[in-house]
Amino acid sequence: MFILGIETSCDETSVAVLKENPPSRPPSPKATEGHSKASEGQETIKVLSNIVSSQIKIHSPFGGVVPSLAAREHEKNLAPVFKKALVKAKTKMADIDLVAVTQGPGLEIALWKGIHFAEDIAKLWNKPFIPVNHLEGHIFSNWLKPVGEFSNSNLQFSKKIFPALNLIVSGGHTQLVLMSNHGKYKLIGETMDDAAGEAFDKVAKMMNLGYPGGPVVSLRAAKIKNQKSKIKIEFPRPMINSGNYNFSFSGLKTSVLYKLREFEEKKIKLDENLINQICREFQQAVIDVLVKKTVSAAKNFKAKSIFLSGGVSANKLLRKTLEKEAKKMGVAYSQPDFQYTGDNAAMIALAGFYKFKNKGAKKLKEIKAEPNLKIKSW
Ligand code: KG4
Ligand code: ZN
Repeated sequence: MFILGIETSCDETSVAVLKENPPSRPPSPKATEGHSKASEGQETIKVLSNIVSSQIKIHSPFGGVVPSLAAREHEKNLAPVFKKALVKAKTKMADIDLVAVTQGPGLEIALWKGIHFAEDIAKLWNKPFIPVNHLEGHIFSNWLKPVGEFSNSNLQFSKKIFPALNLIVSGGHTQLVLMSNHGKYKLIGETMDDAAGEAFDKVAKMMNLGYPGGPVVSLRAAKIKNQKSKIKIEFPRPMINSGNYNFSFSGLKTSVLYKLREFEEKKIKLDENLINQICREFQQAVIDVLVKKTVSAAKNFKAKSIFLSGGVSANKLLRKTLEKEAKKMGVAYSQPDFQYTGDNAAMIALAGFYKFKNKGAKKLKEIKAEPNLKIKSW
């Protein structure tokens, strides 16, 4: 089975092709010799191509994503990205068995571009068509192997990981989602205002560090690991002891703004070191809150595993810290390969494939963009 994925929820135009090989017959003890473990009676999935066309350069001067520009770029890039994905996968549209597309959450006008494109090709080639929740896609990014490598999905979806606690951290969302089983989700906490990635982006903007803010802030933070400074900077850890699993990053962002104003008033020069120090303190505050809430939710819900995903999962310190905490608790831990932390269509194709296996495809006319789509169980 070949699955085509399409993602246009924000500022990446992405198309991917995945191939699923059905489980081989349970091999006889003799036949197992020479078989790789991943193919023994198991279904395997392989990413054949995952083309991502980023619009960072276009949005960068604005310090954030401009929806109308994003939609225009998706419109321009979808056809060439689609062609590239098929060519790289050495497939034709005739070979495709399922088209999966992001339905939401995301920017409405951007989502519609992907949906219309998916609808057009699905109709033209008479293929089933399935809508996918973008956040569910991020969760599934944990099961994606680098392009060309097989992943043994049966093994990885074994019951031992459930209940699994997902920390989804991106530019638009910060959520803790408990999975009791594959496709069974319960939202247990989310941000009350800004998403974690959004806070990174806004803090970077305040100091003219460029867009997106996450990568640059984390790089600067890492630069001053052992350096002592005369100026003490400390930011709050919002809602860290709130007793629930919700987050708030807007106040933290404002604290950075006030600190910058204070420096200005006191005529303290915002030099490279000071910028790096602000980045480090800000990053640490975000990570402290994310990790503490995740750990306490994992304990409370007796999670057997913790899964990290979303654009902010590219943050090395967050990855390291959460992994260490999971190890301490004795629970399994997973984080996506770096090539799948940001928005990509491979994760949409994978989520779509499993949803399709469980629910089948929807009729074309039933699909519409849902900018505020919530994660739902199948
Ligand atoms: O998932 P994603 O690609 O798009 C959305 O669905 O929002 O996430 C993008 C977000 C941006 O806010 C970006 O600044 C953040 O992920 N990000 C990071 C890092 N790399 C990307 N945040 C912190 N540290 C990073 N290394
Ligand atoms: Zn995303």
